[in-house]
Parts: sequence; C-alpha cells; structure tokens
Amino acid sequence: MCALMTHETAIETAREASTLSLQEELLLALLDEETGYFRQVPGWNLNCAMAGAALGELSLLGRIDSDLKSLILFDSTETGSPVLDRILREIATETEQHDVGYWVERLAPKSESVISSALDRLVRRQILDRHPGDFYTFTKRQQSGDTSLEEDPLASEFVRARLIRIIFADEIPGPRDVIITGLVDACNAFQQMFPIDEEAEERIKLVSNMDTIGRAIATAVSESIVAPSLRRPSLTKPIPAVSLRDLVFNRELREGRLPAGFAYLAEKYGPVFELRLPFRQNIIVLAGLKTNQWAHSKGRGFLRSKEYFEGVDKAYGVSRSMHSTDGADHFRFRKSLQPAYSLTTLTRRLDEVFDLSRTHMASWDVGAIMPAQVMMRLFLNAQSSPLLASIDTQDEIMDALEYKVRVLNVGIIKMLPTFMLHTLSMRRRAKAMQRIIDRMETTHTTTQRAGMPKDVVDAYLALHASDPQFLPESDLSLPLGAILMTAMYMGDQVGFALYRMLQNPELYERVTAEADALWADGDPSEDDLSPDRIDVTRRVLMETLRMSPIVPMSMRTVMNTCVVEGYELPVGTQLVIAQTAAHYLDEVFPDPWTFDIDRYAPPRNEHRSRGYAPFGLGTHSCLGRRWAHMHMVINLLMLTHHFKIELARPFKRLPMDPLPSQSPSNKIKFRLAELRHELRV
Ligand code: HEM
Repeated sequence: MCALMTHETAIETAREASTLSLQEELLLALLDEETGYFRQVPGWNLNCAMAGAALGELSLLGRIDSDLKSLILFDSTETGSPVLDRILREIATETEQHDVGYWVERLAPKSESVISSALDRLVRRQILDRHPGDFYTFTKRQQSGDTSLEEDPLASEFVRARLIRIIFADEIPGPRDVIITGLVDACNAFQQMFPIDEEAEERIKLVSNMDTIGRAIATAVSESIVAPSLRRPSLTKPIPAVSLRDLVFNRELREGRLPAGFAYLAEKYGPVFELRLPFRQNIIVLAGLKTNQWAHSKGRGFLRSKEYFEGVDKAYGVSRSMHSTDGADHFRFRKSLQPAYSLTTLTRRLDEVFDLSRTHMASWDVGAIMPAQVMMRLFLNAQSSPLLASIDTQDEIMDALEYKVRVLNVGIIKMLPTFMLHTLSMRRRAKAMQRIIDRMETTHTTTQRAGMPKDVVDAYLALHASDPQFLPESDLSLPLGAILMTAMYMGDQVGFALYRMLQNPELYERVTAEADALWADGDPSEDDLSPDRIDVTRRVLMETLRMSPIVPMSMRTVMNTCVVEGYELPVGTQLVIAQTAAHYLDEVFPDPWTFDIDRYAPPRNEHRSRGYAPFGLGTHSCLGRRWAHMHMVINLLMLTHHFKIELARPFKRLPMDPLPSQSPSNKIKFRLAELRHELRV
C-alpha cells in the first residue's frame, strides 16, 4: 500500500506510535495559533478532509484498503472509536463497491460530528484550550513542551513540526505523515502555513503521492471541492413570518419583556422566524436551545457584528472597536485585554471593593427611599470607575450614561433618528462623556501610574503603545467610554436581583445569613468567598440573570450563507440572536415563570446547557462575566449585611425599561428601613 512501508508495518506503527487520531492530527495541522481558528479552509473542504482523515485512520488500522477505483472492507471488527465504528458499519452495510471519492463525499456532510468529537478529545487531553466562540489555542503545557512522551508521543511533537521536517529537511515520512501531507495539500493550506517555494511544492507532491489511499483521498477531496452543488445547502424551508397580531397583541412583547416574548414566538413559529417591521429591513430572529448552540459554535464563520456596531463607532468618531471587529483582529483584542477584565484582577483588589462600597453606602440616610435604577447605577459606578479606570466619575456618570443609552438607541436599536443624538441636551451629555475620557487619559501617564495596579485603561493604552496601527489614538475614545457601561449593566442587574429577593423574603433572609457569616470577623478574604459560602447569593443572581437578563439579545449580519435548523439565511440578512429566549422555554427551564434557585444545584443543573446565556454566546460573549458575577454577588451581600431594605411599593409585574438593555424602572423604589451593621469607612 505505501511506497515506504508495508501494509502490516503501517498498522503496527499506527497502533504503537500514536495516541492521536489522523482527524486530530489534521486539526492540529490546520490550527492557526495567531487567530485561534483553523486556516481559511472552506467548510466543505474541511469536511471532505476530515472524512478522508477518518478513512485514512481506518486504513492504517487495517480495516479498509483502496486503490484508485474501489474501497475494500478488510475487517469490520470495531475499533473502539464511536466515530470510526459508525463509518465502518456504514461501509459494511453498503451492498455495492465504490471508490474513495464516493465515500469522502458521502461522509463529508456528517463530518461535523467527527470534527466536534476530535476537538473535544484534544481539549479533554489538555492539548488545546477552547475559548468562547470555539477559538482554540495550544495549552500552556503543550507550548512549554511539558508533556509526557509516553502518554502523548505525538502531541508533544506537533504534526506541524513533523511536516516541516518532511517538507524542508527531506525526512522520510511515515504513513500517517503521507496521508496528512496529502490532506493538507488538498485543502490548499500549506501556502498559508509555510513559505512554499517550487522545491517545497515538488516535495509535497512527491510525499502526497507515496500512498495509494492517501492519494485517492486527496484526489477525492480536491475533486469534491469543485462540486458547488454539494456546497450549496439544499432542502431549505421558507422562514415563517410573525403575524402583526402576534407582534401587537402579545403582552410580553408589548411590555418589552423580550426573553419571554421571543420564547412565545419560538414556541409558536419555531426556532427561526421573521419580523416584518414597518420602515425597516426585515429581521430574522433565532430563538431556542438549538439556535443558541449554533450561534455559539458556528456563528463565527457566518456572522459579523461590524454592521450593527458601526452606528456606535460613528457616534464616537472611531474607525472600529472590539465590539465591531470580527475574526483574527477581534481575537487579538480579546487576548490582549482579557487579563484586565479577569476575575483575578478583581479579587486581588477585594479590600478596595469593600471600602468603595462602604464609602458609598455611608452617604445613604436610613429611612431614605431611592429609585432602583439611579440608586444602583451610582452604587456600582462608585466602585467600577475606580477599579476599572482608577478615577472617580460620580459627578458626570449619569449624564455620560444618558448619552451612551441614546447612542445605542440610535446606532444599534435604530429606534430613534440620528438627529436625536445631536439635540442640545445630548450635546451637553456628550461633553460629560468626553470630560470623563479626558480624565482617564490625563491620569494614565507613565509617571502617575507607577506602582499602581493595572486597570482596563492601562490595558487599552498598552495595546495602543505596542501597536499604534492596530489601535490608533483616534480609536481610543469608544473603548474608554464603554468602560462606564459596566456600572449601568451591573447596577441594573443588582437592582433586579434585590427586587427578586425582596419578593422572596425567605431568600432575602438566607442571603443575609450568608452575608453575616462572611463578615462575622471583619472583611472576608478571597478564599472565604468560596462557592459553598456564597451559594445562595450566587444562585439568586443566576436565577435573576435568567428571568431578567439585562442583555436579552445580540444583533449580527450574515456574511456567509448558512443553514440554521433547516432554514437558509442568505448573505446580508439582519439577524437577532435572541439568546435568552431559551430562558423561558419549558423544555430548557421547566416551569420557567417560577423564581427557583434550585435549578442551579445538582442534580438539576439546568444552567449547564447553551440555553442559559445571560452573558451572550460565541466570540463576542462577555469578557468580564466572571468579574461581573463576583462583583454583583459581593454587592448583594454587602447591601443585605449593612441594611434592612424594603420595597417601597409592591408590583404585580416587575416594572422595567426594555431598551437598549433591560433595566429596572425607576418606579421601583427601595426603602432603607434599618442600618444593620455600622459602616466603618
Ligand atoms: C450584569 C452584568 C453583565 C452582563 C449581563 C453582560 C453581558 C454581556 C453580553 C450579553 C455581551 C455580548 C454582547 C454581544 O454579543 O453583542 C457582553 C460583552 C462584553 N462585556 Fe459584558 N456584561 C456584564 C458586565 C460586564 C462587565 C462588568 C464587564 C467588564 C468588567 C464586561 C465586559 C464586556 C466586554 C469587554 C464585552 C465585549 C466582548 C466582545 O465584543 O468580544 N461586561 N456582555
């Protein structure tokens, strides 16, 4: 079978040498560390190559053999790999004999499961780290070469390094290398991986042609690539349009409760439906568990956020931002900024969090009645501005947030005309935002920051300094301004959580008990804030994030035609990913209208599916989610420890403002009934 080794030797080598399958090796070869994703191999090519890799693996294991005309089953004994055994059964039950090309094309549409299981295994074995949106990088352990050779003979010596030796140092290839070389070549990926001159090209051709099955697979793959009929989605269904009646008369939608409203539409119309709104381009909505799974793991290849965030970029006069960037540049943004937004950065500064929180609460009068939205936004901003930007912004924050909300309503939600950004009051508020940004920049000079803990402004300025082309000075105002939004998001979410607790007095008491235990001997340490000691508070917050998520949906544009749940979405489609619709679907969260924190405890663990998505899905999912979660838990604990709080007036249905994000309405008012523990500042 192979020009260099006999069939038997090849089987032995395959058994002995590798704990990685050919599918896994191919994925490792195609992974681009810089972008965290696979080289620009079109989906169909990758699918064919994966099908080919699986057939190659079966051939190395002695189950099949092939010449250019036919693929022959040698031995149908199971291999122990569910993916390979499924293919083996399919070949065994086929009555007619076909060539490799036929099998590659037949198996390619099912390659998604081959790719997923190969990636899962690489992650499980700590060869790859998976990042939100299905980006991958080699684990630190692999990068440092700290692997046990016995355990992982080939993982430690990545297939790419082997390919370099084979192509550029004329090393004699083994049978696996021959097949992989053929597959990578068939995907046209060598040119993206290495500088390929004529000599290297000849060597690649020579190696690929050494093995009959490898050659047959590679030919099948490259021939299949030019079969556009196979790439086009077929049998797609027309997308149902939501009737005007359902839009106008559905109570949830009318009152702006978007997660429940979208769940109602998903139950009635299915997971993909169209909204035809007057004077606007039609919008397609994805809602439900399956579409969440798709958006999370596949969205990256088909969707773009650029068009939606362009309006915001324009309002700030920037050319782009992390929110409006996709692909490799976006991955670079996230990688550089991740440490600044991490939970560790917050927990290193716990003392400051406690002090800032107490200092603000000390300004409250016992007996005072305060509107939920304003009270909580100011409370959270008193902490997040100093923590994330090392400045105090209490004097300007409400104006700056008003401006930011208007920018989102004009630029993203597009429910207001552009001139509404330039009214007199908005121009005044825009100036407040600019003054805050100036304050950030003037306080972040090298001398002033010496010895200070690094914050998010430092992280953006460092990225700018390291590559002014990538993040020019002219693009800094938006990300710096966006830092302030965290006070609004966290403030509103804490406001919702406090409201829910006040409606569930038993839970309020349990949270208070947790808080009192934690502060019994002074401020808790990072270790004290362990999951078991903040268990009830954490679950109250999780259930609030399910029932009243402040960001209920994300907007995207389709940049590559795709099929979701059998519906074709053409290029240019405006898409709403209603990721939180699943929060109100009975099949994902049984009895969804009941506030029930036991959903998040074993054995139920209802949050462990993509149906739970308060922090978004995929590549743009919240970078500060861990920070936000812990920060909000701490605030709920501190509020209940220091004050007995009451609802000034009860409501039958939670009053809220739906856009641009969901916020507790200022109709909700909290009364500070009693000071429970003194506020030492
Ligand atoms: C209640 C609190 C929060 C919620 C519910 C929340 C939710 C979200 C959601 C849903 C997205 C994705 C938006 C999209 O897909 O278009 C997002 C993005 C983001 N969030 Fe949060 N967030 C919260 C707080 C925070 C905090 C406190 C920080 C910073 C410390 C933060 C930093 C970010 C960043 C940087 C992004 C942009 C990520 C990207 O474009 O790649 N968030 N957030």
